[in-house]
Amino acid sequence: MASKSTPSPALKKNVKIALVQLAAGSDKAANLTHAADMVRRAASGGSKIVVLPECFNSPYGCDYFPSYAETLLPSPPSKDQSPSFHALSAMASENKVYLVGGSVPEKGPKPGADGKPTYYNTSLTFGPDGTLLATHRKVHLFDIDIPGKITFRESDVLSPGNKITLVDLPEYGRIAVAICYDVRFPELATVAARKGAFALIYPGAFNLTTGPMHWKLLAQARAMDNQLYVAMCSPARDMEATYHAYGHSLLADPLANVVVEAEEKETIVEFELDAEKISETRKNIPLLTQRRFDVYPDISEGDVKLEDADLSA
Ligand SMILES: *[C@@H]1O[C@H](CO)[C@@H](O)[C@H](O)[C@H]1NC(C)=O
Ligand SMILES: *[C@@H]1O[C@H](CO)[C@@H](O)[C@H](O)[C@H]1NC(C)=O
Ligand SMILES: *[C@@H]1O[C@H](CO)[C@@H](O)[C@H](O)[C@H]1NC(C)=O
Repeated sequence: MASKSTPSPALKKNVKIALVQLAAGSDKAANLTHAADMVRRAASGGSKIVVLPECFNSPYGCDYFPSYAETLLPSPPSKDQSPSFHALSAMASENKVYLVGGSVPEKGPKPGADGKPTYYNTSLTFGPDGTLLATHRKVHLFDIDIPGKITFRESDVLSPGNKITLVDLPEYGRIAVAICYDVRFPELATVAARKGAFALIYPGAFNLTTGPMHWKLLAQARAMDNQLYVAMCSPARDMEATYHAYGHSLLADPLANVVVEAEEKETIVEFELDAEKISETRKNIPLLTQRRFDVYPDISEGDVKLEDADLSA
């Protein structure tokens, strides 16, 4: 039995995307100015969707959160509350691009249950007129505790977001934005694809162990399962910094080929997304219409969260 819902053409027309693999250091203002230069360069190459990496305005790591975090709510925040919000909005409008603004540390508007401030790893997406289109707070927090080996508890510092973030770009279609570790969860990607996304966009920062092991494979896996484009945008590697990002920003196409990939240094990688490629892939290997929802459930139906009540607070 074929499934009921056949998603309509995912990408309406070809569009060029640029992934900006930025180097970020400890001076936020300098980093914002530099990010603006790089977005201008990306746009001048014809890209209409520009992506920045995770933590593009601060050094990477939970220790830096409290001093770099900005308040984003109520939205729009003032310039004092969030210089990054205003800088990103200006980068989008000055260059007339859709800008997936990497991620920034966000300080929540309310303290948590323990009375301490709440922090989120948050990605802001702006439209070509500079308006905020979507906010994604990282959903999956990375906690590990292997006694005697490694303890890393993101949830000690961060709070999770509570939704899948779909963003409509009227001329092109729909993208999904999620952050880093979120890419390891196929459900999020599949729901986004079944809700019509033509691309999954993940600002991320894998390290020098998990990067070589899984970064590319994860992009290819999400692309292969869902037959759409997957973009992963990392900061450049800085061996002087406390966290060594893998780099290798890349794009996988609907057949799961990696079509562009950076090395570890600061750079911009660009690619024109092909609307035909998605429909052709889906025609040749008809995963979308040959599912058996009489055998297993359709995870895109039912209790899927596309809105986060806290974000409208
Ligand atoms: C961020 O600022 C630091 C300190 O000024 C600088 O070393 C680093 O190169 C900057 N990164 C970017 C992306 O501008
Ligand atoms: C975001 O998440 C990563 C790991 O997934 C975490 O280590 C990092 O400190 C966070 N940083 C920011 C500022 O977004
Ligand atoms: C990278 O992260 C993984 C998962 O937390 C950890 O096991 C590994 O030791 C880290 N590698 C480096 C080089 O920091």
